[in-house]
Amino acid sequence: MTIDQASTSVFPKHPGLGYPSVDRARGVRLYTTDGRTILDACSGGAMAAGLGHGVGDIVDAAAASVGGILYYYAHHFTNQPQEKLAERLTGLAPEMTRVRFQSGGAEANETALRLARQYHVDRGESGRWLVISAAQSYHGATMATLALSGRAGLQAPFGPYMAGHLHIPPCTERFDPTGEAALDALDEALERAGPENVAAFFCETVSALSLPGYSPPDRFWEGLAERRERHGFLICLDEVVVGLGRTGRWFAYEDLPITPDIVTLGKTLGAGYTPLSATMCRAPVYDALAGGSQEFDLGHTWDGAPLSCAVGLAVIDYIDRRGLVERVAGRGPALRDELESAVSGCEMVGRVRGRGFLLGVEYVDPRDGTSILPSSAGLADMVDSHALDSGLLVRSTPADSNRWAGDQTLLAPAFTSTDEELSEMIERFAQVVGEVERIVKDRLPNGAAK
Ligand SMILES: Cc1ncc(COP(=O)(O)O)c(C=O)c1O
Repeated sequence: MTIDQASTSVFPKHPGLGYPSVDRARGVRLYTTDGRTILDACSGGAMAAGLGHGVGDIVDAAAASVGGILYYYAHHFTNQPQEKLAERLTGLAPEMTRVRFQSGGAEANETALRLARQYHVDRGESGRWLVISAAQSYHGATMATLALSGRAGLQAPFGPYMAGHLHIPPCTERFDPTGEAALDALDEALERAGPENVAAFFCETVSALSLPGYSPPDRFWEGLAERRERHGFLICLDEVVVGLGRTGRWFAYEDLPITPDIVTLGKTLGAGYTPLSATMCRAPVYDALAGGSQEFDLGHTWDGAPLSCAVGLAVIDYIDRRGLVERVAGRGPALRDELESAVSGCEMVGRVRGRGFLLGVEYVDPRDGTSILPSSAGLADMVDSHALDSGLLVRSTPADSNRWAGDQTLLAPAFTSTDEELSEMIERFAQVVGEVERIVKDRLPNGAAK
């Protein structure tokens, strides 16, 4: 049954839309109450359900925790699941020495912001508060994290709440394949802010919805590290989507020529079974606070709660035991090739990107094969709704007014997807793109002429 707006008291995301109701899910299949089956190519739609739905081991771990200790507050107590999960994560990420847990990605990123700020204050540099971040990015829906994204389309109408952080363009193939222009922009931003006022550089290691599958070239990362050395800001990497296996590494930063100071995790850590996220930091960051104010107090009710951390431990055990990081690393390149070849006949597809089980398609105007489509074409919404109508869940992002990227679609299947399921996702997606391309061409003036 699709719940329409006349028959619900829920405040929906888009009041104009009706929503199918899902009451059961197994593996990568969602079952709606009106009898439809949806193939989930996006880990629940928010890239969280990376192990697929209904995994008995995780459900059992949650049930055992609820039957034992359900909840008490990290202000007063610690608990074994929290202790073990922190130890497990620092074992997997030996560069990081401390972990603070929260419930969602935005909370993890806000914690990273507070941590970076507190680090500088405790070292006597209280002028440092500004953040430089990538213009085409996403770090969460709270006011502080929204301010890190340079996307006016997301920030309107909350402009008055947005802190005056600075943004630099992404170094995509379209604008800056070497990363040199982004480094120049970083220098300009540092100059404009005054480097002594900059607390952190913040970005996604590999982008998700904002630029699916994109990561800056090595030259950019190396230049960023040189500037960190020179100017003393921290590097915070948002791995809320990519951390814990999605790119075929436990942490996507393992592929970078630099080591970050603070890293955030979310999504796969709770894998859709519980809200869970984390902020990890290197020893010097923790030591500055431990030897300074000795305080990092503000937090959230569910920080480090036993239930969430027990689920997080079971998730990591499951990924480890089943060799899912290796599976994603091994299968990812061929998956990307399959996607590329499936959509190769579409004039509307400008580029395919991909790392592991994080794949992205960027669309262009089929009339010239390079321009970004006008937003009036409504391409992103059309792809998602046609996909859902044909029983496929993917997630698209419309082009922002910043014009750093065109409309895009993200595919982020569960790490447990079988080869057959992956092939079905790609095949169905290519059909959807083909259908939507025909509609777009019909609607655009001179649409058929390339
Ligand atoms: C890269 C990235 N960071 C942070 C977030 C925010 O996570 P949450 O929605 O759990 O607050 C998201 C959400 O999609 C994300 O994609």
